[in-house]
Amino acid sequence: MSPLIVLVGPMGVGKSTVGQLLAERLGTGYRDTDDDIVAEQGRSIAEIFVEEGESAFRAIEKAAVHKALAEHGGVLALGGGAILDPDTRALLAGHRVVYLSMDVEEAVKRTGLNAARPLLAINPRKQWRELMEARRHLYEEVATAVVPTDGRTPEEVTRAALNALELKEA
Ligand code: S3P
Repeated sequence: MSPLIVLVGPMGVGKSTVGQLLAERLGTGYRDTDDDIVAEQGRSIAEIFVEEGESAFRAIEKAAVHKALAEHGGVLALGGGAILDPDTRALLAGHRVVYLSMDVEEAVKRTGLNAARPLLAINPRKQWRELMEARRHLYEEVATAVVPTDGRTPEEVTRAALNALELKEA
């Protein structure tokens, strides 16, 4: 089994909202690797970061992403940093991957100061800029389609993704 669509992109870009809408429109299931990790670990992502650090989280995330890619046939959203792993990027080459993008100002506006997102806890604008400089090319590398979300509603983004992939609604 292989996902119909894999969604990548930064935190707060709307992967879960758009992912659920896409799944609905396509008459399929939605899955999110962050949710898989929380369910499997019995603790929040923020707790894993605080208790074990980012690299331990990345190892847990890598296993969760590889499992979901092998198991799930619907729409799959990956955590924003999943594409940092080279093996994961290589694995994504065989999939239909949509990169939901947004500019830094939109990102700051949407996520703000959010304790649930440990990577943005201090000086979110500077951290967003650095994060996107480090990651933009990786998102682009794995993407089959890039769908900008700035100034668009989740419904508009969903439609744009379906059009970009030339997928018909169920
Ligand atoms: C992260 C994104 C988060 C979560 C963790 C790290 C990142 O997922 O996996 O906080 O490195 O960008 P979402 O993109 O689903 O918020």
